[in-house]
Amino acid sequence: MENKILGIDVGGSGIKGSVVDVTTGELLYERHRIETPQPATAENIAETIKKIAEHFDYKGKIGCGFPAVIKNGVIMTATNIDKCNIGVNANAMFSEITGNEVTVINDADAAGIAEVSFGEGKNFRGVILVLTIGTGIGSALFVDGKLVPNTELGHVFIKKGIIAEKFTSDAVRKRKGLNWHQWGKRFNKYLNYLDLLINPSMIIIGGGTSKKIEKFADTITLETPLKPAKFLNDAGLIGAAVSAVKDKFGKVY
Ligand code: BGC
Repeated sequence: MENKILGIDVGGSGIKGSVVDVTTGELLYERHRIETPQPATAENIAETIKKIAEHFDYKGKIGCGFPAVIKNGVIMTATNIDKCNIGVNANAMFSEITGNEVTVINDADAAGIAEVSFGEGKNFRGVILVLTIGTGIGSALFVDGKLVPNTELGHVFIKKGIIAEKFTSDAVRKRKGLNWHQWGKRFNKYLNYLDLLINPSMIIIGGGTSKKIEKFADTITLETPLKPAKFLNDAGLIGAAVSAVKDKFGKVY
């Protein structure tokens, strides 16, 4: 059984990868990061993934998290990435350029898969919402461990004409110089709104912000349990690796 899979996480500034034991979620090597090429066309990204595979001397299936809605391997949106990527069949292009079979999924869905497979959400029955807070806000929704793919809950309107990721992402916190209390109040408003819409049994937050929960915990009024992600910045590549072999393991998410 193939259980050592290369997982890749494509981000706006860096593309990270490592070989992952998809039965445990463990990274088998220190992750390798290469700056996201400019222009960040799908072709250039594929060349970078190829370099990461070569770095690990890896041949085999690759799972890739990508910051967009991905339907059957096709890039459907481009909020924080190059618009020229819309409509590209990333599964086909990445596979051809790397010479390996690549499965591409949404980056937040990938991070969620890691948390539901090996983290706080493991064996959990009910509805789990995973939010990744970074440049944008990504979401992954699970029902009894099964993913509802491509939810884009970072795009709900939180104020007239303003979507959540333009109001309470980590990029907004940094750009506006908000302290944790000020940012936490915004995030709390967003969490309560999502709670009202989705009514999950648990919310897991990932991205750099999840390490700082204690700094804004006093601003959170949510009754639904809020947990930090277990895998922090590696969740995306771990879940991507798992998603590449999901058929072999049956229900992995
Ligand atoms: C995109 C999502 C992505 C999230 C996190 C958002 O801007 O629309 O697809 O998951 O950023 O990268």
